[in-house]
Amino acid sequence: MDYDKALKLLQSYGQEHVLHYYDKLKLPQQEELLASIDKIDFNVFKSLERGDRKLGELTPADIIPLKQIKKQRASFELAGSAAVRSGKLACVLLAGGQGSRLGSDAPKGCYNIGVTRPLSIFECQMNNLKAACKKAGVYVHLFIMTSEGNDLFTREFFEENNYFGYDAKKIHFYKQSLAPAVSFDGKILMEERYRPVLAPNGNGGWFASLMKAGYGRILTKESIEWLNVYGVDNVLQKPCDLQFFGATLLSGAACGSKVVKKVSPGESVGILCKEDGAASIVEYFEMPDRLKKRREVNGELTFGYGVTLNYMFNVEKLRDVNKKKLPYHLAKKKIPCLKGIRHFVPEEPNGYKIETLAVDIVKLMGSCIGFEVEREKEFAPVKNKTGADSVESARKLLIRNGYKL
Ligand code: UTP
Repeated sequence: MDYDKALKLLQSYGQEHVLHYYDKLKLPQQEELLASIDKIDFNVFKSLERGDRKLGELTPADIIPLKQIKKQRASFELAGSAAVRSGKLACVLLAGGQGSRLGSDAPKGCYNIGVTRPLSIFECQMNNLKAACKKAGVYVHLFIMTSEGNDLFTREFFEENNYFGYDAKKIHFYKQSLAPAVSFDGKILMEERYRPVLAPNGNGGWFASLMKAGYGRILTKESIEWLNVYGVDNVLQKPCDLQFFGATLLSGAACGSKVVKKVSPGESVGILCKEDGAASIVEYFEMPDRLKKRREVNGELTFGYGVTLNYMFNVEKLRDVNKKKLPYHLAKKKIPCLKGIRHFVPEEPNGYKIETLAVDIVKLMGSCIGFEVEREKEFAPVKNKTGADSVESARKLLIRNGYKL
């Protein structure tokens, strides 16, 4: 891209300040700046959602509650392990986030959750994955999504740890795409005079980036029909859960989601429900209070199940869904950037990262079955350093589950 073309493009989106210092830059910096402008997906400026989503009519989700799972455990496991053994499932670990709330420079999965011995979040999850594979008798393919800033560190961490005893040939890394970060008034923030702030574009692009990386070939060649997608920030995460997979297959839904019963109407967790009859996940801040508090005659919350970022997706349906555009969301974050000509490290959020979200893919899948799990056994989110959903709370839950830290 040349200067004139870049200027015209930026002007059409009110972003010409990006070229403000162009004349003062050295040639390599000018080239770097033009190359980064070329990489920016300007579509994000056309369709930004500013959190004022209009909700359709909400009704409760289809859920398989714990009681029913207890009764059908054997048949779910039989169906799940048969399908895993015949190669129908692969896993996708979402590990491209920046973990800014945790405040560690290393990728979140490398965080040492141990106390007297090293125990990373990756290791906890890989141990659970190995246990499931051992039960089924095969190693499933594992695709790990990283991002520009943490890709190398993550790959090296896996290598140094001998892939946690997993079959290294079945582990495939790929990078997600980047999107510009903007100030509260929508202007692209600059990291250097020649470098816009580019950040991972949210966890919604995981399938598009997987395809872009060329891994669609493995899905086709190995006849993989389902993908189990899970987040890195839960130390009790159970990937490749045979019962969950079996239950999803038997339900006939295009997608399955692990859910936990909410601890209170206001808990900060995405809520699985139906919107105008189709599967939907509504964020806690999007649902009106009266709906959050609504109860059934038996006293249970009408919208009482939160998602844990562990989904089963049907690949054929995903390929269809991948042709549609996901909405962009604005996530308020603390974004180090230039203020005038000085570097500025904010203590409070100073702008937005632009993200697509995996929950929006669930909506496009049409149908989704909720599979209830015991939160004490499977839900230990690590989002913050202290307090709720923190390293502290996750350690307590690990100890309660018999881990020696
Ligand atoms: P979060 O929404 O908690 O974001 O990610 P984050 O970036 O990890 O943390 P904060 O908000 O900066 O503190 C939920 C899951 O989605 C993945 C994360 O790695 C985590 O597993 N994710 C998030 C991505 O893979 N890419 C992204 O761009 C964002």
